[in-house]
Amino acid sequence: MPDPEAPPTDGVAVEINGAEFVAHKGELLIEAAERSGVYIPRFCYHERMRPVGMCRMCIVEVDTGRGPALQPSCMLECTPGMKVDTESDTVKKVQDGILEFLLINHPLDCPVCDKGGECPLQDQTMAYGPGESRFVEEKRHKEKPIPISDLVLLDRERCILCDRCTRFAKEVAGDPLIHFIDRGNQTEVNTFPDEPFSSYFSGNTVQICPVGALTASSYRFKARPWDLEVTESTCQGCAVGCRIAIDSSRDQVLRFNGVDVDPVNWGWLCDKGRFGFESIEAEGRLTDPLVREGDALRPARWGDALGRAADALGRASSPASIAVIGGSQLTNEDAYAWAKLAKGVLGTDNVDAQLGDGLPAEAALGLPKASIDQVCTPGGTVVLLAPDLKEELPVLFLRLRHAVVEDRVTLVELGARSSGLSELASSSLLYRPGDAAELARALVAPVDATKEVAGLSPAAVNEVRALLAAADGPVSVVLGRPSVAESADGVVEAAAVLLQARPDTRFLSALRRGNVHGALDMGLAPGLLPGRVTLDDGADWYRNGWSSVPEARGLDTAGILAAAADGRIDVLVLLGADPAVDFPDHDLAERGLTGARTVIAVDTFLTESSRRADIVLAAAGFAEKAGTTTNIEGRVSTLSQRVTPPGTARPDWMIAAELASRLGSDLGFASVESVWAEIERLAPAHAGVTRELVVSEGGAEGILVPLAAHAESLAEEPADAAGGPSSAEADALATQAAASEDQAETQALEAEATAAEAEATATDLADHDGELADQTVSAEPAALPRPELLCHVHVAASPAPPLDAYSLRLVATRKLYDLGTQVQAASSLSGLAPGTELRINPYDFERLGVADHDRVVVRSARHTVTVPVAADPGVPRGAAALVVNQPEVRVTDLIDATVPVTDLRIETAR
Ligand code: SF4
Ligand code: SF4
Ligand code: FES
Repeated sequence: MPDPEAPPTDGVAVEINGAEFVAHKGELLIEAAERSGVYIPRFCYHERMRPVGMCRMCIVEVDTGRGPALQPSCMLECTPGMKVDTESDTVKKVQDGILEFLLINHPLDCPVCDKGGECPLQDQTMAYGPGESRFVEEKRHKEKPIPISDLVLLDRERCILCDRCTRFAKEVAGDPLIHFIDRGNQTEVNTFPDEPFSSYFSGNTVQICPVGALTASSYRFKARPWDLEVTESTCQGCAVGCRIAIDSSRDQVLRFNGVDVDPVNWGWLCDKGRFGFESIEAEGRLTDPLVREGDALRPARWGDALGRAADALGRASSPASIAVIGGSQLTNEDAYAWAKLAKGVLGTDNVDAQLGDGLPAEAALGLPKASIDQVCTPGGTVVLLAPDLKEELPVLFLRLRHAVVEDRVTLVELGARSSGLSELASSSLLYRPGDAAELARALVAPVDATKEVAGLSPAAVNEVRALLAAADGPVSVVLGRPSVAESADGVVEAAAVLLQARPDTRFLSALRRGNVHGALDMGLAPGLLPGRVTLDDGADWYRNGWSSVPEARGLDTAGILAAAADGRIDVLVLLGADPAVDFPDHDLAERGLTGARTVIAVDTFLTESSRRADIVLAAAGFAEKAGTTTNIEGRVSTLSQRVTPPGTARPDWMIAAELASRLGSDLGFASVESVWAEIERLAPAHAGVTRELVVSEGGAEGILVPLAAHAESLAEEPADAAGGPSSAEADALATQAAASEDQAETQALEAEATAAEAEATATDLADHDGELADQTVSAEPAALPRPELLCHVHVAASPAPPLDAYSLRLVATRKLYDLGTQVQAASSLSGLAPGTELRINPYDFERLGVADHDRVVVRSARHTVTVPVAADPGVPRGAAALVVNQPEVRVTDLIDATVPVTDLRIETAR
């Protein structure tokens, strides 16, 4: 640890209440005072927004050599020799005055106000206020509360006009939908008529409002702070992994609040994550196992359901006839246990945590990784080749937005249609779907000036090429699927092309589901084993650690569903997966679910897919089980159990262990800690990431894996005496990472000596191939060299077919609110799915003979749907954009996942 007493090298010596303190250059006085241990009361100041000096609560006496003067400390940078008094009689008088003034019109409804007990106005009035008011006049009255959105209520008379909510909406979220209106005594916060506060981030204003003026409809009158138990955890609403505080009372989760974690969410949450807590106790939660009897699913005892599931697995004709889809709702420990059951016990590699809408696991895990901070490095360049982050990874959108607006990050968007970040991008190239690789090649080498590239003019492409060539800061690519109607291959090839041209490029994968990165890390992907190793490289290592590994690479979700549709899958296990809704090709998902002989669903709700299962095993969900999760960066953080799972629902790792036991194997797990211990011991990427480290104080921000990446990220951050990252901490972790490597080297040396023994073990295990009885699959790993972490291998994509003159190419995207279980189970969010219309470039209207708002028939080779059409200049010419998983129209009916792109014919509906 650095010496917290040591003055920063860029220090500014000041005196605060008589004590010397060295502030950072440019540091605001309010922050420096807090770091020195002196808290200055405040209302409008917020450390993640620009100061405005609205409330004057932070006034202190400052002497810069010309005698003491009253100054708002949130607006004043420390200067050398500054003498500050935060407790003088004059300051106290000002604080009295400010509070008395603020309370003139503030209704004293603390006993019925949601903020009561956690209200800065209440607390600061007690600590710094006059104790009595001289005002006896009638207070101002306004209608209360008024809804300003579907999720937020406003009590205008409680507002102290601090400008936090309005600044947040404008500065941070970029949704300036809440404003000060009127003037003088009539000034109030409100929305414009007919323009609700429909922001994906509205809940943050509730959290940062220093009074009870903004309240969440989901929490109003539900609890008081002193009734609540607060536990930190990690949001699983998407893969950003925002840190949250779970507030619960009497075994019920009542609220999520954002926790300020520097490398990830800075205290912000999106509304899907914040209000997603309602799904925990939603109606329809599975409480007990179900088994099929005829056409119906009937409640069953765990013993019966597990027995039937184990029977089906045991009777499968071969390991390759078993498949597992899903895992992104699981904890890392759950995912590891299922990987061990599937790959180590059942011997199948037909395992995929993704649902055909992400990236190949080798690309998501194998491309050189960037952390969010590295992507947002001031002065850097970010290539966005991903879905709309605002819709899929909302708080990553906030971080990137800040990086572009405040930190001079240059954003280049390569998209299938415009996104929430388009207006901030230095350049936005909206390419023809299917041509991402062609566009990437044109960005790294000169193009023919007479030919269009990916539907774009050579001049536009040349301009971006020059911009990228001139980038002298770090270059990162945020990589994902801009459209689920476009195969991932083109995007992955584009990434490889960019990496080849600039080998120091780093990638942040934009896969969206909760713990999808953790599930992939734990080996829930074809061709991979836990800890980011390939089946080929890790086979010997895991044969020793487990009892066996699959013989050959298996199928991904598309392959599994196709095999099931062909009658080649005897048992299909769905781990919290709903392919009927989420797989981009609905027809294939249907045929796959119908074709599998037995479907076992492990889930928290009956979904469109799991209600068709033969056996449903009730799983514990978020906040009902402890463990760890891994976010888009590869950051492992903790998940906490706060409430009891409903009925007899249990964690997925236990279900895996029980099934293994019924199959005659022992996964060797007695607790979630024992699962992590094995992950740390066996998974090469997780070496040294002990449970103690993850739950330690230093692990509160999460630990990047492998450990060397964490040490590097700590070393890159500026040292901060207030408990921020430290170079010593980085050094310690680097040493620990090196120790893990040394250990691997030692093992390598020992390997030769034990090779014969290992071979004998392998032969022995091979002799038992197919025998499930009496296996204990937790043997110590023999002294083999730890396998290398996987590296992405560039595989060329097949080019998209040319687009004929009568067709439009489908761009299928997602919205934050959809028909997915997570949104639909949360009552505040379930009605917010906006639906879809067909959006096409205005240029294509005349060509197609359609008019804005017409209802049109949209035909693909697969299916036909009828939707309204709307003009959208954010859709490139020749493309047509639809949103999947929305009410009324099932867009996935149109998509054929076996071809690189889906072309559509459009005509006016008769
Ligand atoms: Fe401040 Fe709350 Fe009023 Fe917004 S509503 S200005 S956050 S007091
Ligand atoms: Fe949760 Fe993702 Fe929203 Fe963060 S961005 S609050 S992780 S849903
Ligand atoms: Fe400084 Fe409001 S906190 S003026």
